[in-house]
Amino acid sequence: MRSALLLSPQPTTKRIADLDGPDFYPTPAWATYALIDNEDFSGDTWECACGDGAMSNVLEQGSSRVESSDLYDRGYGEAHVDFLAADRKSRNIVTNPPFHSAEGFVASCLEKAEHKFALLLRLAFLEGGGRQRTIFAPHAPSRVWVFSERITFYPKNAEKKGSGTTAYAWFVWDKSHTGGTQLNWFAPGYKKRYGG
Ligand SMILES: C[S@@+](CC[C@H](N)C(=O)[O-])C[C@H]1O[C@@H](n2cnc3c(N)ncnc32)[C@H](O)[C@@H]1O
Repeated sequence: MRSALLLSPQPTTKRIADLDGPDFYPTPAWATYALIDNEDFSGDTWECACGDGAMSNVLEQGSSRVESSDLYDRGYGEAHVDFLAADRKSRNIVTNPPFHSAEGFVASCLEKAEHKFALLLRLAFLEGGGRQRTIFAPHAPSRVWVFSERITFYPKNAEKKGSGTTAYAWFVWDKSHTGGTQLNWFAPGYKKRYGG
């Protein structure tokens, strides 16, 4: 017999891929705390698609000196910097990139991060023949941190209701790492601890 929980309607919220637009979805703070509680980013970190600073504000609580920029002017950091075309480097790079340019952000980070970079991506980013060939075979991530709690992304200023339907993970490339990709899971509790 199916439990009442399975049969009850579950409100859901899905981040819609904004195929050629800005794709502005601020990251809930707890999802960035999960990263910095488990990965060290000492030295400089560039939040290169910073939006309104939701992620930068948390990164600054860690050991990093954070620089922030975005393609659009969102009232935070340096505006009108196209990360894909920018000619600068940083010791670390951390961001939640727009869905439509995720592959480009990986390629750019490989050039621009001197030590380490972490991208918040859909867990399904692991799939696909094209990515296997161009990203994962030549540049396997050092660690993948799978969220055991769902992240709900809301467009800026949208009413916060429903829960996420998409699985996400932090993908970390660390030049000091040797060996294959380590697969890790965040223990549940970040949402409650850091206010989800
Ligand atoms: C999903 S939002 C994430 C915002 C922020 N990183 C956060 O986690 O709260 C993606 C951001 O990427 C920015 N963006 C889109 N294309 C970009 C590009 N080529 N270079 C830099 N920023 C870009 C958008 O303006 C938007 O603010």
